[in-house]
Amino acid sequence: MSSTTIFRSDPLAVPPSPASVSPSPDVPVVVCRGVAKAFGEGESAVQALRGVDLDVRRGELLMLVGPSGCGKTTLISIIAGILTPDAGTCHVLGVDQRCLPSDAAVDFRAKNIGFIFQAYNLIPSLSIQDNVAIPLLINGVPRPEARERASAILRDMGLDDRIHASPETLSGGQQQRVAIARALVHKPGLVVCDEPTSALDHVTGERVIRLMREAVHERGATLLVVTHDARIFPFADRIATMDDGHILDVHDGTGEAI
Ligand SMILES: Nc1ncnc2c1ncn2[C@@H]1O[C@H](COP(=O)(O)OP(=O)(O)O)[C@@H](O)[C@H]1O
Ligand SMILES: [Mg+2]
Repeated sequence: MSSTTIFRSDPLAVPPSPASVSPSPDVPVVVCRGVAKAFGEGESAVQALRGVDLDVRRGELLMLVGPSGCGKTTLISIIAGILTPDAGTCHVLGVDQRCLPSDAAVDFRAKNIGFIFQAYNLIPSLSIQDNVAIPLLINGVPRPEARERASAILRDMGLDDRIHASPETLSGGQQQRVAIARALVHKPGLVVCDEPTSALDHVTGERVIRLMREAVHERGATLLVVTHDARIFPFADRIATMDDGHILDVHDGTGEAI
């Protein structure tokens, strides 16, 4: 059975190889069906997701938008394998991460998914070069090569003069660029970001989303962005609107040219 087999619905099936996977171009990179998730139990339970269906197409920038508390972070956390759904299925690059043994699931995420967190999550005791090298080191790339590849992508991000600096000495926009470089350096098929521009001023926010779009497109990856920042909506290929644990609507964006 190939490692790119799609829709592995049989939980007893032999899990696929956790190596990087790339299903055929017409298969969506993310396929969620009936995804439900509650937090807590009994009367205090919060139903965060109430049966979400969502496809993210290969190569697109899909923005997930909606009011605070509607379930956006919960949904991308399930897609990224950080949370497990109570019901429904979620396939990423053809793989249901719940069907993998836990080591293989960790390996699958490390190879195939890049995360950009709102708080950047850079490690202050490491240089920005070493911060960016982390996903490569996790994937077994020798340190000299990892540092070389980290420097190369930081050059692309316009940060080549800062590679030995500590993250704390950088501006918010520069730290965001380091976080983008770290999410992309190992060439994941899917990049997910939670509110990437909400802490940035207008000019920096627009620059960051352009950079992210360009960097992801160049590497043939797919980008899923959670945002309530209307300033960046024009950069979406498609926009999925959420409310109260549901996807209300998915429509084409303008996908403004870079
Ligand atoms: N770890 C958690 N424990 C309890 N409730 C949570 C937790 N995470 C999220 N929730 C609740 O689930 C709902 C959806 O949250 P979230 O996915 O963070 O929404 P959004 O990202 O759209 O603001 C909210 O009511 C939130 O309070
Ligand atoms: Mg959120």
